[in-house]
Amino acid sequence: MSQPDATLSGRFKIGGDIEVVRLGFGAMRVTGRGIWGQPEDRAEAIRVLKRVPELGVNFIDTADSYGPHVSEELIAEALHPYDGLLIATKGGLLRPGPDVWNPDGRPEYLRQCVHDSLRRLKVERIDLWQLHRIDPKVPREDQFGVIADMIKEGLIRHAGLSEVSVDEIEAARKVFPVATVQNRYNLVDRGSEDVLDHCEAQDIGFIPWFPLAAGDLAKPGGVAAAVAADHGASASQIALAWVLERSPVMLPIPGTGKVKHLEENVAGAAVELTDEEFRRLDEAAQAL
Ligand SMILES: NC(=O)c1ccc[n+]([C@@H]2O[C@H](COP(=O)([O-])OP(=O)(O)OC[C@H]3O[C@@H](n4cnc5c(N)ncnc54)[C@H](OP(=O)(O)O)[C@@H]3O)[C@@H](O)[C@H]2O)c1
Repeated sequence: MSQPDATLSGRFKIGGDIEVVRLGFGAMRVTGRGIWGQPEDRAEAIRVLKRVPELGVNFIDTADSYGPHVSEELIAEALHPYDGLLIATKGGLLRPGPDVWNPDGRPEYLRQCVHDSLRRLKVERIDLWQLHRIDPKVPREDQFGVIADMIKEGLIRHAGLSEVSVDEIEAARKVFPVATVQNRYNLVDRGSEDVLDHCEAQDIGFIPWFPLAAGDLAKPGGVAAAVAADHGASASQIALAWVLERSPVMLPIPGTGKVKHLEENVAGAAVELTDEEFRRLDEAAQAL
């Protein structure tokens, strides 16, 4: 049997510049419980990361706060010097403990985040750096301003935002070109439709985090199950095929710490939904 091929998901140019295969990989799950510390099975986590490019994925999403530091360090260990891979990272969150995430958008801290990520990832420039959260305690223009400065200084090539509204995207675009937006979005969680439509209109990459609803959409018997049976596909593959079909700027980053799940998810790139199936899934999800 031929191996899963992410390139079947199509391509998108981030910032009109770096071409990536649309189906990416989220590297938050190669850490410990509570996204804290080393993964339970470190050897498997390294195998997952090494398998990612073999399956045609060339876009990996991570953050300094995953672990913290663990995800970036494992990516460097498994994949440096990243031949043809875009490693996108994020900064601006403090991690005092497992499952705790506190925004810190002070410009001097954001600058420190970038320098530390450069060191851990062993690169001279971060191709895509995203502000993990806009910190409500710091004027947003100050946070956007330091990002613009770091682009000018060559520390960052492209920059993006996470969990933002259309208004925030437009405020940021007055200060730096917003290449990507990363909001929670999946078949059954559609609170960011307006942001997605805006990104599509502006050719901004939209990175839906939680594309599998943390695994719920991968479970048998869920909203995707009937269509999955028709395709001989798994529910996770149908959930991914649906987001990929939803918009040409969609760049899903399903996360897993298991090679088996990675391979299953990437095989979702081969699933082509008919218009009728797309609508059926949409209606079933909206009715939940
Ligand atoms: N910007 C933000 O604020 C933000 C927030 C959260 C996440 N993210 C990014 O988005 C990525 C994806 O988000 P996510 O990891 O929270 O959610 P997700 O991709 O929707 O789901 C991942 C979960 O689903 C399970 N899973 C994956 N594939 C599966 C399969 N084929 N069958 C059964 N279970 C499966 C994984 O467990 P196993 O490990 O057991 O496979 C994991 O627990 C993250 O890795 C991270 O890069 C960004």
